Amino acid sequence: MQNNSAFFSGMRERRSHTIPRVQLRQTARRLYARVVNERRYYPEGSWGWINQFSQRLFWENPGATIRPQYAWGTVFAATLARALGHSTVAVIEFGVAGGRGLLALQDIAAEVSATLGVKCLVYGFDTGAGLPEVTDIRDLPQLYKRGDYRMNFTELKTRLRPETQLLLGSVSETLESFLAAAHPRVGFVSLDLDLYTSTRDAMKLFRDAAPLNHCLPRVVCYADDIMGPASADLTGERLAIREYNEAHRTCRCISLIHGLRYYLGWPHNRAQWPDMMFWAHFLDHPQYSTYDGLTPNPQLPL
Ligand SMILES: C[S@@+](CC[C@H](N)C(=O)[O-])C[C@H]1O[C@@H](n2cnc3c(N)ncnc32)[C@H](O)[C@@H]1O
Repeated sequence: MQNNSAFFSGMRERRSHTIPRVQLRQTARRLYARVVNERRYYPEGSWGWINQFSQRLFWENPGATIRPQYAWGTVFAATLARALGHSTVAVIEFGVAGGRGLLALQDIAAEVSATLGVKCLVYGFDTGAGLPEVTDIRDLPQLYKRGDYRMNFTELKTRLRPETQLLLGSVSETLESFLAAAHPRVGFVSLDLDLYTSTRDAMKLFRDAAPLNHCLPRVVCYADDIMGPASADLTGERLAIREYNEAHRTCRCISLIHGLRYYLGWPHNRAQWPDMMFWAHFLDHPQYSTYDGLTPNPQLPL
């Protein structure tokens, strides 16, 4: 008996050391970042400021620590919305699964809303029952199967903020209802539905008149499944993006945010996520050419 209790108290001790070690590591990383990263002043709302503010969130906001890409997308969306005269903006996660990403997104949205004064409303789209049937070869059935990434809806619901809405069902149907109801313009989407067919369905948001009435002129898109195992131009998210671009050659495209990593400090300049960030550009959007203040003071000193 005595041995057992000594064993359990040893376990408790080890466990109680786990959290401080994580915090210690984060503090050490933060100090290192302070030393190696530049600390220039950028005017609020400018490109440099967006990059700087997203990184500050990474150190201060637990959601952004898990999803720096969601922080960058939400900061950009709210900044652009404000520059174009909108007081609210919608940020979307397509593919919620357990809800870790959605919870991170809603924490980030709350912080960005408070700083920028633009209310960020969060929307999550998911079947609630995991992946649908995977039969189309372009959906990578060798990698995915029906029911993968199931959600515990009852548990997740209790942790959602009032600004967050979860739309359950097939994205082809729930997106229809989203578009039919009142909501702010969309400024950021995370594409994390895994399948080509589902991603293609979600991109209805960018087809026909939808982006003109429901989106900002440039929407940040994070594409989660374009790297690593079996990712190819003929399948999955990469195919959905390529097809979209081919069908809209003249006035719309989903284009990489080229060189984003070079504008970010450590550790983001060594991370994978900056290479998974895109902008959906709608050149036919009535506000596409409205000045957005990203490059203030274009006059350079002599
Ligand atoms: C990889 S998981 C998402 C992970 C989540 N974003 C995260 O970061 O934790 C993919 C999700 O997409 C959802 N999904 C795939 N196809 C869908 C469709 N046609 N309609 C709605 N949800 C879909 C699945 O239910 C699954 O939960």
